[in-house]
Amino acid sequence: MIVVITGAGRRLGYELASHFLSAGHTVVGCYRTHYTEVDDLRQRGADLTQVELTDLEAVDSWIQGVVTRYPHISLLLHNASAFRPVGDDPKAELKAFAEYFQVHMQVPFLLNERCADALRACPDSKGNIIHITDIFTDRPSPRFRTYCATKAGLGNMSHAYARLLAPEIRVNTIQPGPLEFLPEHSEEARVQVLQETPLQRMGGFGPVVQTVDYILANDYLTGASIPVDGGRSL
Ligand SMILES: NC(=O)c1ccc[n+]([C@@H]2O[C@H](COP(=O)([O-])OP(=O)(O)OC[C@H]3O[C@@H](n4cnc5c(N)ncnc54)[C@H](OP(=O)(O)O)[C@@H]3O)[C@@H](O)[C@H]2O)c1
Repeated sequence: MIVVITGAGRRLGYELASHFLSAGHTVVGCYRTHYTEVDDLRQRGADLTQVELTDLEAVDSWIQGVVTRYPHISLLLHNASAFRPVGDDPKAELKAFAEYFQVHMQVPFLLNERCADALRACPDSKGNIIHITDIFTDRPSPRFRTYCATKAGLGNMSHAYARLLAPEIRVNTIQPGPLEFLPEHSEEARVQVLQETPLQRMGGFGPVVQTVDYILANDYLTGASIPVDGGRSL
């Protein structure tokens, strides 16, 4: 399988790329910051390119190169994301809002459009698109309202693509809850998140990887939004 992943350089993106490489698949991805994980994936055969996703010309040039090199794509995984609380200065926040709109909506739009033929051409007509959104798309966090709104937009667009690209390509959404805290999460925030999560623990990245495998294996699934959240959305 040829698997294309955005934001492959760390955390969930890295775990997904690593999972598909270990299973013998070809991984094509983009990253922004050059972490040691990028070297690890490259040594294991991944085709990775450094791309700033707010530079839509660079994104387009990268993805056009990808579909030229790999005319049969099995899976397009939209993982890259930016996440910060809204600050006090609305004008400054417009810049962050534009960044979220680009990374969470315009980039997935451009990649889906550019990759549609390659996904249709995948052997056995089993092309898949998976958008990683968030449980906050349905119940937005006021502090992260611009992040949530653009992720909700991605969830909405995912349903449109599920209809548009059927029956050849299946399009689904995974809505993670608390997987793994970022270093910037305060102790107070960590305690609160765990209190709000019925399973009372972070999931780690494994449950999302399992859900990606489940979507690939279940060929009657399209237009689904699957929460992987330890029950937090309840
Ligand atoms: N972790 C969780 O608990 C959780 C909860 C809910 C939803 N999710 C979703 O699950 C996915 C993965 O989560 P994660 O925690 O692994 O995310 P993450 O650590 O924040 O990684 C996101 C990746 O996207 C890349 N990225 C962001 N903006 C970019 C830009 N402008 N250009 C290029 N690359 C850019 C980042 O690159 P840099 O490293 O260079 O910034 C990073 O590699 C995301 O879609 C996230 O919204 C995660």
